[in-house]
Amino acid sequence: MLRISHIIKNFGNVNALQNVSLTINKGEFFGLLGPNGAGKSTLMNIIIGYLEADSGQISFNDQVISSSNINLRKKFGYVPQEISLYLELSAHQNLRIFGKFYNFGAKELENKIEEVLELVQLKDRKKDLVKEFSGGMKRRLNLAASLLHDPEILLCDEPTVGVDPQSRNAIFDMLNILNKAGKTILYTTHYMEEAERLCSRLAIIDNGNIIAQGTLIELINLLNQKDTIKIQKTAFTQNKLALLKDMGQISENDFYLELIPKESYNQNSKIFGKLEEIGIRNEFVQISRATLEDVFLNLTGRSLRD
Ligand SMILES: Nc1ncnc2c1ncn2[C@@H]1O[C@H](COP(=O)(O)OP(=O)(O)O)[C@@H](O)[C@H]1O
Ligand SMILES: [Mg+2]
Repeated sequence: MLRISHIIKNFGNVNALQNVSLTINKGEFFGLLGPNGAGKSTLMNIIIGYLEADSGQISFNDQVISSSNINLRKKFGYVPQEISLYLELSAHQNLRIFGKFYNFGAKELENKIEEVLELVQLKDRKKDLVKEFSGGMKRRLNLAASLLHDPEILLCDEPTVGVDPQSRNAIFDMLNILNKAGKTILYTTHYMEEAERLCSRLAIIDNGNIIAQGTLIELINLLNQKDTIKIQKTAFTQNKLALLKDMGQISENDFYLELIPKESYNQNSKIFGKLEEIGIRNEFVQISRATLEDVFLNLTGRSLRD
C-alpha cells in the first residue's frame, strides 16, 4: 500500500502541491486526473525520489521512503511523462542500458528483456533504432524499460500523450494485463475518458489540491445530477407528450425534447422500457449521464479541457 501524507511542494511562489494526501491500495488501478499544471508530475517525481517534498511523508507497505531507504524504491516502476530513450540505439540496446541498474546476471537480463518486449509487443522490432519508432512504439518501449525489475507498483505519468488511438488501446490492454496479474498502478492523465475507462478508483487534482476522490460512481453521485433524455420530436404525437410530462420535467427545441425524469432510472434499459410503454421507440432516444468532466466543472467552475 502506498500512503502519501500531507505533501507540500513549492517552486518559488508556485504552490505545486498543497497538502496532498492519498492512499493507493495493493492491486488498485488508481487514477490521478487533473488539467495541465495541476501537480501530477510533481507528485510522481516526489514518490520516485527525483524531487524532494518541502514537507509531508510517503510510505510503502508501512515503511517510510527516504534517501536512506533506497531499496524500497526498487519496488517502483516509473514511466515518465517525457519519453526517455536513446534514439540512436535499438530497442534491445536501450533495454540493456536500463537493465544495468538492476544487477541482473547476463543471461537473466536477456530473459527479462525478451519477457518485457513480448508484453509490449515489440519483439519483432527489437533490433530497430528507436528513432524509427512511432510515438506509440516509443511509449511502449518506455513502459517495457520500467518493467524489467518486476516492480510491485507502476507509476505511469500520462503515458498516452502523443500516441495514436491504436497504440493507445494497446497500452490500455497492457496495463490491464499487468493490473490483473497483481501490479498496483498509479496512472496520471488529463483525459477524463481514460480515467473513466481504466481506473478502479481515482482522485481529481487541481492547483495542487485533491478536490475529490472515490470510484467513478461515487464521484458522479457527488453531483446529484439526474440523467437527461433526448427524444427526437418526430417520435411522438401530442397524446404521448402528455404521458411524457408525467415522467418528469420537459424542455424542447425545434428538433428534440429533453426530459429530466423525476424518478431515478438507474439503468438505461429501464428508461427505454418505460418509453416503449408509451410508444416511443429506442432509436429516437438518447440518454446522457453525468461524466467526470461534469464533476470537475461542478467542483472548479472550469472545464478540464481549458
Ligand atoms: N521544476 C519546476 N520549476 C518551477 N515550477 C515548476 C517545476 N515543475 C513544475 N512546476 C510548476 O508546478 C506546477 C505543477 O506542475 P506539474 O506537476 O508538471 O503539473 P502536471 O503534471 O499536472 O501538468 C505548474 O504550475 C508548473 O509550472
Ligand atoms: Mg505532468
